[in-house]
Amino acid sequence: MAYLSIRWFLITLAVLTPVLLSLRLGHDRSFAASFHDGASMLYPDSVDLKEFEDASLRWSAADSPTYIMIVRVATEVEVQRTILYANRKRTPFLAISGGHGQTSTVGKVKNGIGIHLGRMSSMYIDTDGQSVVIQGGVRNGALISYLWAHGKQTMTTGCDCVGYIAPILGGGHGWLQGRYGLAADQLISARLVLANGTAIEVSQVRNPDLFWAIRGAGHNFGIVTSARLKIYDVEPSQKQWAASSFVFTHDKLESLFAMANNILDSPNRPVGMVHYLVFAFNPDVDPNHPIIVVWIYYQAASIPFQYTRPLYALSPVAVESSTTDLAGVNAHLYATDDGVACAKGFSRKLAPVSLQRYDIGSIRKAFDVFAGVPSSFHNSVMFAEGYATNRVEEIDANSTAFPDRAGKLLLSPILTYLPNASLDAIAEDISNRIRDALLEGSSSKLVSYVNYARGDESMEAIYGYEPWRLEKLRRLKKEYDPFGRFNYYAPIS
Ligand SMILES: *[C@@H]1O[C@H](CO)[C@@H](O)[C@H](O)[C@H]1NC(C)=O
Ligand SMILES: *[C@@H]1O[C@H](CO)[C@@H](O)[C@H](O)[C@H]1NC(C)=O
Ligand SMILES: *[C@@H]1O[C@H](CO)[C@@H](O)[C@H](O)[C@H]1NC(C)=O
Repeated sequence: MAYLSIRWFLITLAVLTPVLLSLRLGHDRSFAASFHDGASMLYPDSVDLKEFEDASLRWSAADSPTYIMIVRVATEVEVQRTILYANRKRTPFLAISGGHGQTSTVGKVKNGIGIHLGRMSSMYIDTDGQSVVIQGGVRNGALISYLWAHGKQTMTTGCDCVGYIAPILGGGHGWLQGRYGLAADQLISARLVLANGTAIEVSQVRNPDLFWAIRGAGHNFGIVTSARLKIYDVEPSQKQWAASSFVFTHDKLESLFAMANNILDSPNRPVGMVHYLVFAFNPDVDPNHPIIVVWIYYQAASIPFQYTRPLYALSPVAVESSTTDLAGVNAHLYATDDGVACAKGFSRKLAPVSLQRYDIGSIRKAFDVFAGVPSSFHNSVMFAEGYATNRVEEIDANSTAFPDRAGKLLLSPILTYLPNASLDAIAEDISNRIRDALLEGSSSKLVSYVNYARGDESMEAIYGYEPWRLEKLRRLKKEYDPFGRFNYYAPIS
């Protein structure tokens, strides 16, 4: 009897398997047929495996989402259709643009649907020359080049390869924020597809609460299909960027960070000046300790002597200076599409801390933790980014969900290593200790820039400590995403 039932089970299975396989999620013919172009779907078992893998590959290989299907959407209607389909199948979905988001919760998308925005990359400058309209998949580098070619600029970020929209959703720090404010401050209006598949417009006058929320907590609310942004003429005096790097041995750490504090404290801080202070390993310069690289970018033909003189006085090991344009600044940072900062497939772990000033004792402690990482992590860097904040601070802090207008510095290790699960825990431990060291001398609580967030921060650390902010965000989350479909990037809870 038992033998018979097993036999029947196997026969039934043999008959049914082809039928079941053809019904596998992601091979749904009627769904695929609703797209005008059959090449829109990528599957993990298709002959175009390489294309599927390329579309899935992220900047960080740690905490990677997995997909049963990636849909390369070309229109807003296709975004709506894909979300409705995913809802019907009770399957998680994730928008893919630059693929840089590395917070651990994106890894909770398992057997999900990727909504790849690469085909939605067009843009145009409006006839009045005051705004640009971009589609949801436009990359930062493409926007910089397009605007520059038309004599325009706006607040753009330091890596060509990231999407432009995702940074807006968390605020968006970058080159011209001292002049114009954050990327989010450039947003005039946006169209987005909500969790229930409805497409709406948000602006100061249409759905203003949601317009407020997507500028700082936007990953929670929808997929932006297009955005209208403020743009500005590039004045003749703004055409050039001076870019310099100074390499130092670690014994100069205290002097360098004190110097940076002086710049932050200066009453007339230049709007077009950015500094990066970077720890990295370079055994040619120092076989025993990480080195310190100071990058200075200044929107002018040269960096005023008052800022470079103190650096020369500390006897740098090497100095390199050049004059370039806005796109060239990203190239100087190795952050063009083929640069090391954009390279995909390494595991990367961050642990961001936003500060208003450097506490030099804490920086030294963080340096010592960084210096002690095992050799598997010697491709890592630790970054301190000091963008000018003049205009960021002037804009009413209540006008957007971005909670940290008083912040002046972004610090984080970027632990970089070949994908290896046994190194993930070590990386987390190191980044914890660096974060603790950085906070030790800070009188304030942890503030973490949501676009760099690691995934273990409190709601307050990423969305703000003023109670009204979280109350408002929680109310809007309930209204616009009651089932938590957008819960894979810094979910509001
Ligand atoms: C910001 O909004 C909150 C809550 O409505 C209010 O308590 C606070 O005074 C506002 N701050 C400013 C500067 O308007
Ligand atoms: C992963 O890392 C561990 C710990 O360093 C090491 O022992 C192991 O060989 C690595 N595995 C691979 C495949 O490189
Ligand atoms: C989708 O959600 C929005 C916001 O809650 C709501 O206004 C709209 O009516 C919903 N659409 C549908 C089709 O239920």
